[in-house]
Amino acid sequence: MRFAVLASGYGSNLQAIIKAVKQGKIKATLGLVISDNKNAFALKRAKKAGIKAVFINPKQYHKREDFDREMVKHLRQEQIDFVVMAGFMRILSPYFIRTYKNKILNIHPALLPAFKGAHAIKDAFFYGVKVTGVSVHFADEKVDHGPIILQEPVRITDRDTLASVEEKIHKVEHKLYPKAIELFVKGKLNIKRRVVKGI
Ligand code: GRF
Repeated sequence: MRFAVLASGYGSNLQAIIKAVKQGKIKATLGLVISDNKNAFALKRAKKAGIKAVFINPKQYHKREDFDREMVKHLRQEQIDFVVMAGFMRILSPYFIRTYKNKILNIHPALLPAFKGAHAIKDAFFYGVKVTGVSVHFADEKVDHGPIILQEPVRITDRDTLASVEEKIHKVEHKLYPKAIELFVKGKLNIKRRVVKGI
């Protein structure tokens, strides 16, 4: 199987995925990295690892779907079977979701359905929850909503700061995402309604 990673920023999850592929922990080929941000460090990480890296400029597309059609063109060119979002800061169009139905994975730095959105770690920390965590899920038409594949809790204690919680969350992400990707690659995941079985 061949997969692509979509990333907008720093790309630490991308790095963890590259490492897991190299170590044979993910038995699939990472054939393409796409970013909507020219300066994304993720693009540099991809190039350094010898992976094809493409920047698609959102400013050149009037509609969300047009941008997504351009992504699909690249994905098809590279014969990509499934898509992994890793800090991709765009909402996918229904067209894209339909095209890769149940073949798009996303990672979210909170225990869904709590703390959806772009500031989940901060939101959970200042809300005062004592347990937060990481979720890997399939992407559907709604943001941070699709069927949950894996979740892992992270405790917040009196000694924690926002920075220390961020660090703990990212550490868990880098373990959990490769694990979820490999479960998908092995064809273990069955979605019934919105419940994922086969973990
Ligand atoms: C991660 O915290 C991920 O959960 C969220 O965006 C962040 C991306 O970080 N969706 P990185 O670019 O992989 O370092």
